[in-house]
Amino acid sequence: MADKISVLIDEETVQKRIEEVAEQINRDYDGKNLVIVCILKGGAFFMTELSKRLTIPVTFDFMQVSSYGNSTVHGDTLKIKKDMDEDIENKHVLIVEDIVDTGNTLHKLSTMLKDRKPASLSVCTLLDKPERREAEINVRYSCFAIPNEFVVGCGLDYAEKYRNLPYIGVIES
Ligand code: IMP
Ligand code: MG
Repeated sequence: MADKISVLIDEETVQKRIEEVAEQINRDYDGKNLVIVCILKGGAFFMTELSKRLTIPVTFDFMQVSSYGNSTVHGDTLKIKKDMDEDIENKHVLIVEDIVDTGNTLHKLSTMLKDRKPASLSVCTLLDKPERREAEINVRYSCFAIPNEFVVGCGLDYAEKYRNLPYIGVIES
């Protein structure tokens, strides 16, 4: 049976907010070149929408990672399924993610990328669940803070489904 999905944030609201955040990025990186590192798979949808509205010079790279359970917060448990192609030394890097939940994935990833000596490293996320935070991370750009609910759409999946929904939805149980 098909899942019933209710709308948490509608398409128009999502688009308007992405536009605002893009304008903020345009201002903050004025006069600089930016490397966007998109975190697959979920970040790809947000990256596409965001980058259409960027007017600064920008290039793109992609990573796919997976982070293991909560008990291993401090462990070396970030699995790199796909690394980026370009060298980021002395470059301004913006990590683009779909959602920051516990923050464990981005905490480990940021630590790893800082070792590659970028000129700057910041995080931009479509969604943030601040209540769930376990690892300390600095989220410079966040489109929406949401309550502790499992959401789908705009790149976010439930068992690989629903990434293509143009709004943020909650699966009704
Ligand atoms: P974190 O390490 O706990 O911050 O995990 C972040 C990852 O968990 C995200 O990149 C998503 O893949 C996944 N995730 C967390 N919350 C949700 C959700 O509500 N819907 C879909 N995926 C989620
Ligand atoms: Mg993800």
